[in-house]
Amino acid sequence: MSGFYSGKTVLVTGGAGAIGSNLVRSLLAMHARVVILDDLSASTRWNMPEHARLHFIHGDITDPTALGLAFAERPDLVFHLAAFFANQNSMENPEEDLRVNGLGTLRVLRASGDAGVDRVVYASSGCSIYGDRPERPLREELISTRLSTPYQVTKMLGELYANCFHEQADLPVVKARLFNSYGPWDPPGRYRNVIPNFIWRALHGQPLPITGSGDETRDFTFVQDIVAGLLLCASVEGIEGDEFNLASGREVRIADLARSINTAVGNEAGLHHLPRRRWDTKTRLLADITRARERLGYEPTWDLDRGLEQTLGWFRSRWDRLSTDPRFRPPTVDPGEGSGDRSA
Ligand SMILES: NC(=O)c1ccc[n+]([C@@H]2O[C@H](COP(=O)([O-])OP(=O)(O)OC[C@H]3O[C@@H](n4cnc5c(N)ncnc54)[C@H](O)[C@@H]3O)[C@@H](O)[C@H]2O)c1
Repeated sequence: MSGFYSGKTVLVTGGAGAIGSNLVRSLLAMHARVVILDDLSASTRWNMPEHARLHFIHGDITDPTALGLAFAERPDLVFHLAAFFANQNSMENPEEDLRVNGLGTLRVLRASGDAGVDRVVYASSGCSIYGDRPERPLREELISTRLSTPYQVTKMLGELYANCFHEQADLPVVKARLFNSYGPWDPPGRYRNVIPNFIWRALHGQPLPITGSGDETRDFTFVQDIVAGLLLCASVEGIEGDEFNLASGREVRIADLARSINTAVGNEAGLHHLPRRRWDTKTRLLADITRARERLGYEPTWDLDRGLEQTLGWFRSRWDRLSTDPRFRPPTVDPGEGSGDRSA
């Protein structure tokens, strides 16, 4: 696959974010020229590598001038990862969620079509678009229209736009449905994911807040597996218009996850149970990754223990910043906010 990316120009919207910054590192290692368009609303400059083949544009995906600058770099491929993230944030700011995830995605897709790029990969969300479907594992055709947050609605909207542009304008777009990514370069914070927020609290010796019973499950996927899947989505031939679950295909109980993190860190403060958040209606999530295996050659290789060890190592190496900057502080424990987003 490395040869495919060598010498190509790749635009990554949201390239300073948790998944984007890992993707950018892999693309640079494969000798691609990378353009990032990111407004740094949910990330920091230090999350991005410094590299001669990396061009950073500080701008908003809904801004035609910023998009014009990004597409003036003549990308061959586009990974559209920029998004207003995630569920709790969208409950509090639904119009901003619609502006970025709706209008922003529409503009990125149109600009990609106008520029005649070879492939667009849209980062969709498996935790969003399957709603509360009880089937396990979740196959790609099991989407639901009963979604519980504005974020879930707009991640679905992005897929609908992608389908529309593919069918009506031959846009070569592939939808990657990601499940609960975690790993290095994914910081904790008020609206951030459950794993970094658990680690931050564990390193501070605090109890880990569990919203709900703790028996809820998620399909946690190490970010390098997500990145490998995204790279396949842009490079495998003959998959335009299709959608793929990118996940580990393993269920992990939230209480078990919390205990593993406490053990790894040596935190003796235990767990702290809180009521379930109203929007957090999914009890179990497990993806079927058969389609990605068969058509992309996707194979996750990271188990949770090894992934957590890497994540913890990154946390410790950045602890001077992560522990002091208020941007990285998880929410004060409150039933409305809980431990972090476990259904992004
Ligand atoms: N992390 C997960 O578990 C997960 C699961 C499912 C889907 N996804 C999707 O994957 C993508 C990447 O997720 P992530 O975890 O890296 O999120 P993230 O918040 O870390 O990264 C998103 C990036 O987009 C940028 N951004 C936000 N609004 C912008 C705007 N208007 N213009 C330009 N840049 C903007 C942010 O500054 C940030 O760097 C998102 O589209 C998300 O919906 C993530």
